[in-house]
Amino acid sequence: AFVVTDNCVRCKYTDCVEVCPVDCFYEGPNFLVIEPDECIDCALCEPECPAQAIYSEDEVPDNMTQYIELNAELSQVWPNITEKKDPMPDAAQWDGVADKLQYLEK
Ligand code: SF4
Ligand code: F3S
Repeated sequence: AFVVTDNCVRCKYTDCVEVCPVDCFYEGPNFLVIEPDECIDCALCEPECPAQAIYSEDEVPDNMTQYIELNAELSQVWPNITEKKDPMPDAAQWDGVADKLQYLEK
């Protein structure tokens, strides 16, 4: 499966959801996740993310592997999202800031 990682936090651009053929993105307050069992590994979402936050599960950087479990866990409780919306208000300011896990709202 593909995985949404650190740089989505506090950005949440949502371009990714528009291209997913199986609608497997789920939305929290300031982050999105992918439901790993629904993802068909088409890779369409990866280049759509302006924050480059999406990786194939086997290419997730070592310092972000916690996000694999977070995608699996939070996709079970958050609502589905299929249409693009405005990014977080301070998305440009947070894009590229490291270690945003501490800001993830559940
Ligand atoms: Fe959806 Fe394809 Fe991205 Fe998986 S890889 S989340 S199926 S767009
Ligand atoms: Fe997040 Fe990138 Fe989608 S910032 S909401 S993974 S387009």
